[in-house]
Amino acid sequence: MKKNYSRREALHYAGAGAVALAGSGLLAGCGDRVLPPGGSGAGDPGWAEPVLDPASWWLQANYAPVDAERDAFDLKVEGAIPPELDGVYMRNGPNPISGESGHWFLGEGMLHGVRIRNGAAEWYRNRYVQTDLLTAPPSGGIAPPSSKAHPANTAIVVHGDRVFAVAETGLPFEIDRELATHGWYDYDGKLTTAMTAHPKLDPRTGELLFFGYGFGGDFLTYHQVDASGVLVRSEKIDMPAFSMMHDFAVSEDHVVFIDVPIGFNLELLSSGFPLAWVDDHPTRFGVMPRNGGNADVVWLEIEQCMIVHTMNAHDTEDGTIVLECARMPELWRGGPSNWETGKLWRYTIDPAGRTVREEQLDEHLCDFPQFDRRLLGRKNRYGYAAHFGVEREGGVLRGVNGLLKYDLERGSSRLLDLPTGHASDEVFFVPAEDGSAEDHGYLMGFGHDATSDSSYLAIYDAQAMERVARVEIPVGVPAGFHGMWVDERG
Ligand SMILES: [Fe+2]
Repeated sequence: MKKNYSRREALHYAGAGAVALAGSGLLAGCGDRVLPPGGSGAGDPGWAEPVLDPASWWLQANYAPVDAERDAFDLKVEGAIPPELDGVYMRNGPNPISGESGHWFLGEGMLHGVRIRNGAAEWYRNRYVQTDLLTAPPSGGIAPPSSKAHPANTAIVVHGDRVFAVAETGLPFEIDRELATHGWYDYDGKLTTAMTAHPKLDPRTGELLFFGYGFGGDFLTYHQVDASGVLVRSEKIDMPAFSMMHDFAVSEDHVVFIDVPIGFNLELLSSGFPLAWVDDHPTRFGVMPRNGGNADVVWLEIEQCMIVHTMNAHDTEDGTIVLECARMPELWRGGPSNWETGKLWRYTIDPAGRTVREEQLDEHLCDFPQFDRRLLGRKNRYGYAAHFGVEREGGVLRGVNGLLKYDLERGSSRLLDLPTGHASDEVFFVPAEDGSAEDHGYLMGFGHDATSDSSYLAIYDAQAMERVARVEIPVGVPAGFHGMWVDERG
């Protein structure tokens, strides 16, 4: 049964009062966490990592959905929030409103946000993205690519004054800095495909570049929005078959599409998530000059693999494009419950010579690559990623137990191990105010301490790779997908 979320449950915490209330059981409504048998808190030698059921791990432990929209104020902070930070850290993720979903990716989108100002964490709140799934649920059938009834659960995009909650299965939804939804957004009727969850904001031109994938022959469309927010170009790109293209890359002069071997598997139709690895679908890069079109795309095949997330790309003087990304050997073979985790790879693409050099850069298991987005399209020296400690165990995706910093110039990496029982989401790089060095800034992301079943927003110094602040969130924040810093600094 659909719950009514128009009446928001507001909780107000102040200082130590939050701790007292948390301990009193008033937060029992958030009792959707599963502590392992015998687990009773930090430092307890009897504590053991939760064992999750592979059939529904995304509904358990720190993945479990929360059951209400809440507000908390004047959050307790351990350490010190850098006083220069002024903005909202937001993160999107699935939170099935019924409490059930057939796959981690299918839950309705919920935003979690923390307002940071003057060295304080003023508020936390979580809100569903008010898509048509909540307000006008569809009666069935396959949704069109420009659907308004999709979860919008994957990422947050900022372009100019506008903020969007997005997934790759439909139109973006405009939200505000207090996490309220203002409805779907189709660029004055011009956007007739889905929007990827990973548009690229070109810091040089102010353009927002993105694509949408779809069905029925319109497998890929490239879109260009100018700095003023007008959709000025939609270019259909020829593709031989459907491909679940999650991300792409943009350099100053080129766009690189990534054709991946994830397609429909009709045998999985009844599962509600009929996507799986396709053995005879090659992995290919499609390189298009920024000032070119479909006719100019050069497709180059690489060793078959899955690329979910790119880090960045840049052009070189010899005409190649260098692209760094998390590369998985494969994904969802036999169905979308079989996960793999990637490693950082570099591809040097030569569209004139029609060659691609493929090289693994690092041994650590990783995903959610990040960098200073002011360098999008240009060469970045430093990159960051979430580290997965155990690739697979019993078919269960394991949480992020560390953070990686890459020095791409030196070819080295550094791992910040999280304490036992802690898991992190993706961390987002926020430049320092007077960032004189590329890595002078902060990594921000939600974390969870399973030993005390508590959630927090962590802020790490990206140069030192050490945590400088832990903002206590007095309610549970389930593990989710992508975060964004919505900067309010002038
Ligand atoms: Fe993503």
